[in-house]
Amino acid sequence: MRMFKLTGAAVALMSTTAMVHADGVEVLHWWTSGGEAAALNVLKSDLEGQGVGWTDMPVAGGGGSDAMTVLRARVTAGDPPTAVQMLGFAIQDWAAEGALADLNALAAEQGWDDVVPAALQNFSKHDGSWVSAPVNVHSTNWVWANTAIMEELGLAQPTSWDEFVAAMQAAQDAGYVALAHGGQAWQEATVFDSIAMGVGGPDFYQAAFVDLDPEALGGADMVEAFKRMETLRGFVDDNFSGRDWNLASAMVVNGEALFQIMGDWAKGEFVNAGQTAGKEFQCFRVPGSEGTVTFNSDQFAMFNVTDKDAMGAQVTMASSVMSPEFQVAFNTVKGSVPARTDISDAEFDACGKLGMAQLAEAAASGGLFGSMAHGHANPPAVQNAMYDVITAHFNGEYDAETAASEMVTAVELAQ
Ligand code: BGC
Repeated sequence: MRMFKLTGAAVALMSTTAMVHADGVEVLHWWTSGGEAAALNVLKSDLEGQGVGWTDMPVAGGGGSDAMTVLRARVTAGDPPTAVQMLGFAIQDWAAEGALADLNALAAEQGWDDVVPAALQNFSKHDGSWVSAPVNVHSTNWVWANTAIMEELGLAQPTSWDEFVAAMQAAQDAGYVALAHGGQAWQEATVFDSIAMGVGGPDFYQAAFVDLDPEALGGADMVEAFKRMETLRGFVDDNFSGRDWNLASAMVVNGEALFQIMGDWAKGEFVNAGQTAGKEFQCFRVPGSEGTVTFNSDQFAMFNVTDKDAMGAQVTMASSVMSPEFQVAFNTVKGSVPARTDISDAEFDACGKLGMAQLAEAAASGGLFGSMAHGHANPPAVQNAMYDVITAHFNGEYDAETAASEMVTAVELAQ
């Protein structure tokens, strides 16, 4: 497996290894953890079974910022991968550049308009044309909990922020890591998604992260969200800095830590370790954010190619991704829920069933929001500006009030 890190040498290497993949697909993605690789294998085997070859192009890093940097270098070098994992606004940016293949014929043949929810179509379609195939719906406002520690400490599922803090305090007092966390900007932003939603609710989330209203960005709810992040900072272990998210999940899997706040790709790690939802681990919404879902949808965008075989491979891949059977087989492993509304939850575990039901409820009640941390609330430049402030604050550079006013400035400069 080739794994590119973002070094100058890697970028130079990429530009000199231009290849034609007429015999299959070259897939750029950031699914590099154990659970993610298991899910990716479902796709790979599906395509190999149809005679479509696979060239792997992994670039680690949740949220996909690093993958998007590598993508830009590949396109600049005149050698775009054929298929790329992409989120939200990034899809729209590439479509606006005219770089993406038109999937309308396949979408019409398979009736995608009728089965993909509007919240996803907003990103999969550009100027009315399908430009990407949604694989799943993830959401970021989840807590993953170790059942044995909860039972040992007599902890019930927390239903308020105060109960959540009390549970973490009990775990810390008993010598456990209360909150498994990896100190990387995208992980801090992922936690911030649900903390901010928990403080200010849907109206605040909309105003701050979607409308980018300076009053919300710099206001009292934002200050309170940063204060809650400071509380969380007091519950992480000394070695959190730089830790990958899946290693933080492993701390909950192994009984070293009580909770992790993370998107439901974390479930893929528990499942990959042989654990079962509702038994060895629990899932619940971040206290305060119940009734809402901050979502992101992994989609595969196909880059324009001229070779007929390569185009055929792209269509086969998009068709596979959208098939109901694939959506079940893939998402039960990945931790996400289907991107189609016509799929039964029968094959999904307790957390998957909960996720599917809550997604539908949130969509019906106005509680469904694109995740800021995962490219579904605002364009990449704004998202990255928010990452910088959130992570600087988490690492002690600003107090809560300063962080809120930095949000206003950073967002203004990024637009
Ligand atoms: C993606 C997930 C992925 C996670 C961590 C998110 O941005 O949507 O599919 O598992 O990052 O890598």
